[in-house]
Amino acid sequence: MKIFHQIKARLAPKTGLYKYSNYEEYKQAQIDGNLRKLDCVWSSNTNIEMLTEYIKQNVPNIKFGICHGTRRGEEQALFRKLLNIEVIGTEISHTATQFPHTIEWDFHNVKDEWINNVDFIYSNSFDHSYNPEKCLDAWMSCIAPNGICILEWTRSHAVKTKTDPFGANKKTYEKLISKKYRIKEILSGGITGKDKDQTAVFFIVTHK
Ligand SMILES: C[S@@+](CC[C@H](N)C(=O)[O-])C[C@H]1O[C@@H](n2cnc3c(N)ncnc32)[C@H](O)[C@@H]1O
Repeated sequence: MKIFHQIKARLAPKTGLYKYSNYEEYKQAQIDGNLRKLDCVWSSNTNIEMLTEYIKQNVPNIKFGICHGTRRGEEQALFRKLLNIEVIGTEISHTATQFPHTIEWDFHNVKDEWINNVDFIYSNSFDHSYNPEKCLDAWMSCIAPNGICILEWTRSHAVKTKTDPFGANKKTYEKLISKKYRIKEILSGGITGKDKDQTAVFFIVTHK
């Protein structure tokens, strides 16, 4: 019986959407993961520096940015320093209050004042969405007419788990984004990840 379960688990598709019984189960899985990895930082300074240069050259009159799913909030700290503008992070876990410029917030939701008013969004946590289409719609509803949404993808983003419910390859990202939005370009990044052993790519998403 044990062997049967092991084979079944091995054959189960790694991509796709993890199904939770309800929202509370989703939220708790995210909080558990956040607490387990509270000391880790996924984003890399080199990539944030590269993205800052890209934003400076491609987004006019930049005033406000949001990073989604930020745990320790290192990405918004660096964007703030390099761009010298207001950048906040969202984090579903109650640990949000421990980190500067981070709000406790589920990134599937939007605040009225964000609508059409955010010059850039950056996230390496899109794979934590329980409904990626709804999530991207929410993020894009905030993007100002000339703004951009930056989605980070690595090979880890292709693996579905209870903590990372949306496992998808690059082609699936392209298909999902292109349904309603435009992929301006896909940037090759440097090394990122918990152990800094993964190569990142960045989807630059704009309104059509
Ligand atoms: C892979 S970690 C990335 C953390 C951070 N961006 C970094 O580079 O270190 C994903 C984070 O997103 C948070 N998260 C997951 N679902 C979320 C949601 N719906 N809204 C806001 N934050 C969420 C998790 O709690 C976790 O801290």
